[in-house]
Amino acid sequence: MDSTELYRKVLLSISGNRLVEKLSLKYGKKLAGKFIAGDTLAEALAEIEVLNGKGILVTLDHLGEGIKQLSEATGYKEEYIRLMDGIAERNVRSNVSLKPTQMGLALDPAACYSNIRAVVSQAKKHGNFVRIDMEDTPFTQATIEIVLKLHEEGLTNVGTVIQAYLFRTEEDVKRLMEAKVNLRLVKGAYKESGTVAYQQVSEVIDNYKKIIRMHLDSGVYTAIASHDDRVIHWVKDYAAKNGIGKDAFEFQMLYGLRMTDQEKLAKEGYNIRCYMPYGTMWYPYYTRRLAEKPANLWMVVKNMFK
Ligand code: FDA
Repeated sequence: MDSTELYRKVLLSISGNRLVEKLSLKYGKKLAGKFIAGDTLAEALAEIEVLNGKGILVTLDHLGEGIKQLSEATGYKEEYIRLMDGIAERNVRSNVSLKPTQMGLALDPAACYSNIRAVVSQAKKHGNFVRIDMEDTPFTQATIEIVLKLHEEGLTNVGTVIQAYLFRTEEDVKRLMEAKVNLRLVKGAYKESGTVAYQQVSEVIDNYKKIIRMHLDSGVYTAIASHDDRVIHWVKDYAAKNGIGKDAFEFQMLYGLRMTDQEKLAKEGYNIRCYMPYGTMWYPYYTRRLAEKPANLWMVVKNMFK
């Protein structure tokens, strides 16, 4: 195991500790702020306008996951319908991303489906799009089934995310490509075991390039979500050499990371979309960011002294 993999595993383990969570919730809000656009929808909409002004598209995420009661999912569904309306009223260029466990997947899959369906239907009224984020492996199959079922119902303005670190990914991409599902392709952010996922960075990147290539070649619109120049340069190069237009795909990055580079990609004529979270349930999102990269932890430490 190299040092990057070790760092990621240690951070993901520590962040699952209840005491660390309690301390972070008490003292960490200011530190997490760098990655989060605000507590309220109004703050987030104002920030979207700023990014749109720089040529950057947005996907808006109301923070929340792993709920304990189904009533919480109803609240999130209603908030997503409000934010769908808010995006339309403000006329900003943004779609939305949501998490299946936020909509109740771990508690009641049928209720989760109906919650997500309500959000996707509202999005359709506004001509907008919903991305269902991919969580850890207990939810992979169910998430894919939800998206395919919505497509079968004619709600094609919904897509999901595919994680390159999973062994099953290539088969999933083939199935979703056949149904012409718009995918966001990522490396994968959760702690997964060696029985289901590649553990070496090089293996993840190889598989990542393979599924990006499959998707770009298929002609179905693709989102490549990564801050890794090894991946970004490779995609630019592959697209240019194979006559794949800049309108056939988009890059995506997270709010608070490589913001100048996001602007630069927009100036170069690429579609670039920023994943912008807002809300008060920031702890799990924030710890995954710290686990991804020692530099993210360093950025937080520097902010502590500002
Ligand atoms: P990674 O962290 O592996 O870093 C690789 C290299 O990239 C670094 O060594 C450095 O050279 C460069 N780099 C990285 N960050 C940098 C920075 N801030 N500044 C300069 N250079 C930097 N995961 C998931 O499981 N489900 C999901 O639904 C999503 N959704 C999602 C949406 C979006 C928009 C993004 C960007 C990511 C996700 N992810 C995700 C997370 C994803 O799976 C992955 O964990 C992170 O993107 C980290 O991998 P990267 O390829 O970005 O770089």
